[in-house]
Formats: sequence, C-alpha cells, structure tokens
Amino acid sequence: MNRFKALVGLALILITSAAFAQNYDEKLVTKYTLPDMLTTLNGKKVKRKDVWEHTRRLELLKLFEDNVYGQMPQDFDSIKYQITHLDNSAMGGKAVLKEIDIKVFRQQQSVGIHLVMFTPLHARQASPLFLLINNRGKNNMDPSRISKTEFWPAEQVIDSGYATAVFHVSDLAPDRKESYANGVLRLYPEQLKAPNGMKAIGAWAWGASRVMDYLQTDKSVDAKKVAIVGHSRGGKAALWLMAQDRRFAMCFASCSGNTGAALTRRRFGETIEKINTTFPYWFCDNYKKYNNNEDDLPVDQHMLIALSAPRPVYTTNATKDKWADPSGSYMAIKAAEPVYELYGIKSALDASLPPANKPALQPPLGYHLREGIHDLTAYDWDKFIRFAHNYYQKQ
Ligand code: GCU
Repeated sequence: MNRFKALVGLALILITSAAFAQNYDEKLVTKYTLPDMLTTLNGKKVKRKDVWEHTRRLELLKLFEDNVYGQMPQDFDSIKYQITHLDNSAMGGKAVLKEIDIKVFRQQQSVGIHLVMFTPLHARQASPLFLLINNRGKNNMDPSRISKTEFWPAEQVIDSGYATAVFHVSDLAPDRKESYANGVLRLYPEQLKAPNGMKAIGAWAWGASRVMDYLQTDKSVDAKKVAIVGHSRGGKAALWLMAQDRRFAMCFASCSGNTGAALTRRRFGETIEKINTTFPYWFCDNYKKYNNNEDDLPVDQHMLIALSAPRPVYTTNATKDKWADPSGSYMAIKAAEPVYELYGIKSALDASLPPANKPALQPPLGYHLREGIHDLTAYDWDKFIRFAHNYYQKQ
C-alpha cells in the first residue's frame, strides 16, 4: 500500500513537472501577433501625442477595464484622515513616523486603510516618497522597526533621503476567494454583479489612490513625486493603478508576471487560465472568457505599461522565477516604447533580455533581472532608489 502511494506520488510529481517544464520551454511559444497599440478602434493610425491622449489611451483604458481589471469607481461621499500615532524621533532619531487611518465613506458604508509612513527628519523640503502595496505579512510594515525585512526596507529608503509609506492589501480586499468582498466592495456592491466589476486587484489599486488623496494633504511629502512599488500580485495592482491614476509619478513592478508586466500571448509560465482558476477573485468576470483564448483579448500587457507614458516604469524579474516569464516581461516593456516616442522620448532598450544583475536603464523605462527567487529584496530597492534619484535630478 505504502509502495503504491509512493508510486502514485512519484507519478504525480513527474506529470506536474512535465507540465511545467513544457510551459517553460521557449520553443513551445507559438506564433502570436500583439494587438496594435497605435491604431484606434476606428482604424486611425496614432502618430501624435494628442490623438493618443484623447482617443487611443482612453480606448485602451476602457478595454482593460471591461476585459481584465474591472471598473475603478471614483465616487464616494467623504474621506477622513486621522493621525493615530506620531513619533518625531523614530528610527533612532532620523525619521518622523506617522500612522494614519484613512476612512472612506459611501452610502452608509465605510472602509479603513491603515498607512505607516516614515519621512526623513531633517529634510529641508517636502520629500519624494515610495509607497509600497504590501501583499505579504504585516511583519513587513512594523512601525516600531523591531521587525525589519527587505520587503519594505524603510531604513534603506530613509537613509537615501526619501520618504516611504506602506499599506496592507487586506484593508481593501482580503486576498481570499471567500472574503475579498469584505472591504472596498462593501461600498460598491453593484460591482459584484457586473461582468466588468472591480475585484481584488482593482480594490488594492483603488486603495493606493485613496492613500494619494491623503498624501496630497501632507506637507512633509512631495505628492508630485510619489512612486508606487508593488511585488507580484501587488505589482499587477501597481501597474493598473499607474494607468488609472496619473498623480503617481513612477512605478516599480517587481516580478509581476502574468496580468502584470508579462505578455500574456506568450503563454509562458503562468497563463490566463491558470491565474483565473487559482485566483478567480482577482480580475473581472469577463477576463475568464480569455482562458486558453489569449488571441481574442483586445489588449496585451505592453499596452498596460504604455498607459503610464510619459511617466517612468521599471519592472523586474528573478532568474529562478520562470513562472513570471522574465523574457515576456522584458518584451512587454520594450514593446511599450512607441508610445513613449509620441512624447518625444527615445527609450532605446536593447532588443534582448539583459543578463542577470545588469539593469537595462533607458529612462523613463528600466528593467532588471535579479539573480535569485521570486521576491522583493534590498537589491531591488537599491536599484529603484537610484533610478528615481537620477530621474528626478534630470527633471
Ligand atoms: C502566484 C500567482 C502569481 C502571483 C504570485 C504572487 O504565484 O500565480 O500570479 O504574482 O502568486 O503574488 O506572489
């Protein structure tokens, strides 16, 4: 019996790894054509920035909304901010710590977002800020700094002269099939019935916009220089947020993979069908129509990156994280360049994937493939800070 179980186990391992191996084989990427970013639904070629801004950009936003991420409702009755904790001598005297409760009300319902924020104590002017969407444990956002992790290396950011803040996705939409609606979606119950209704990823992005509402009121922060940082599922939300909310100055999407920074038509690693099956509460219901049917999707992820133009986007991958398709992510950021060109920006990313730990920097676009596993590390943050620093200095 035990031997039988062991054999069944072995067979299962072999079958699963065969399936994965297959999916990780570049030779099995079948021919595909990316949808054209620069032709409007009426067939007009987009050659100028204003046609992009007033027509094509809006068409693409709507296509992503209706087919992928769902709507992003912006009407609410009121928003309140309360500073629940202030420490003018945090991190051994080099930072100011603020904890802020952001509360949003709509039709007798409310949702609360808890923000943890550090600003450099001796800053002479309002500080540019990195805002992290925390999709991992709350130990990553410890205001007391007893717990310190590379996922949110607040000291590293402060030491570089920047402010940093973080909120947890569960405040907006718990990351679970059974309970994702217990957050923002209580304010917008109509979204739950709509085939293009907002789901968890949209709710997290919505939350970042409410954080921005607060940041615009805080004099210690330069709200014109707020970068959004997200890892993996948080990176998918960060890219969608950046497309929607033009108040964000730049975006860092770490290992965001499928329905993040990677081209879906490659069907390499995670596919639409896989993501919709494991996480049916992340994207709108319409997205399920594209399970094993990528070619019918009117958008691909290079278009999502292009929706950030002319603002900077920096994406990353890790060598041991084929699931997130490093090559497909690099191809997507490269394929976004023609929209940046409409703004007169020549970004000339090399055609091939850069080697590990050698960032490809063509501001406003940037990319690196980090040696290692699926994660957000001090290495990544170091590159993000340098990129932001160089970019802001040239503005
Ligand atoms: C899973 C999921 C990915 C996601 C990742 C994460 O692996 O399939 O799409 O990016 O979790 O959020 O860490």
